[in-house]
Amino acid sequence: MTKVLIATEKPFAAAAVQGIKGIFDAEGFETVLLEKYTEKSQLLEAVANVDAIIIRSDIIDKEVFDAAKNLKIVVRAGAGFDNVDLAEATAHNVCVMNTPGQNANAVAELVIGLLVFNARNRFNGKSGSELMGKKIGILAYGNVGRNVGRIAKGFGMDVYAYDAFIPAEAIKESGATPVASVAELFANCDVVSLHAPATDETKKSINYELLMKMPKNAVVINSARKEIIDEEGILKALTERTDLVYITDIMPGNHEAMLALGDRYFSTPKKMGAQTAEANNNAGLAAANQIVGFIKRGEERFRVNK
Ligand code: 3PG
Repeated sequence: MTKVLIATEKPFAAAAVQGIKGIFDAEGFETVLLEKYTEKSQLLEAVANVDAIIIRSDIIDKEVFDAAKNLKIVVRAGAGFDNVDLAEATAHNVCVMNTPGQNANAVAELVIGLLVFNARNRFNGKSGSELMGKKIGILAYGNVGRNVGRIAKGFGMDVYAYDAFIPAEAIKESGATPVASVAELFANCDVVSLHAPATDETKKSINYELLMKMPKNAVVINSARKEIIDEEGILKALTERTDLVYITDIMPGNHEAMLALGDRYFSTPKKMGAQTAEANNNAGLAAANQIVGFIKRGEERFRVNK
């Protein structure tokens, strides 16, 4: 019998877990649940005899692949798959997939919510500001970036975007204004919203120089990955430029030092962009269906370790 493990250190909503289980029940697959685990040993034990795993930001490395002798597929219920060692997956003959777009709206709504929270002084009653008429720059115009742009437009913001892999024409067609470089985005926008994945090219790329170029009272918001931030560099810029604000959904390594910036810095306690019932359901069910498609019919759409 095909055995599927749902390994989520940060659990899905209960209804999503039920939905996933329902898909596997209908196929005669067994579902095993490992939630909120605190030790890697729990994960290593749980993967021992499963054929497939659904994960979120859970780390799947060589040790996990070595322990999972029957493993054929890992599906990351979400967009970013930097938590999975793809080379080891391929070496162990395991297919890795993600579920692109399934949680994008949830992340985008959190971004806009945090921008309003900041513009209204964290709802402390003091006179704040509005988003309408401000320029928002979207760095990496994928599923999340486009959703941020869509909602920002509804707020009356001017939407600019930069993406190294998407032609300017396509950005224009979607209703945003393309810019030629990351530097231009930072130099021109009141808000820059980060949506780039953590890759060798993007790691530590959001740095002191970029922030120092921003207009007065600018805001940088990160709902992507902490690895793309040069944490010491942005702390330096925020210390020198007392008008700048940094908001993040991924707590930086220098969180304690950043707290000294007072209300010019805000981090959610735990990454929660994709933490909605709808996103859990969309991504979780997509992951389950992709596993069924792979096991039963050899379907490999959304495979990321080609
Ligand atoms: C993603 O890459 O899909 C998001 O960062 C969400 O991650 P999470 O499932 O760990 O909340």
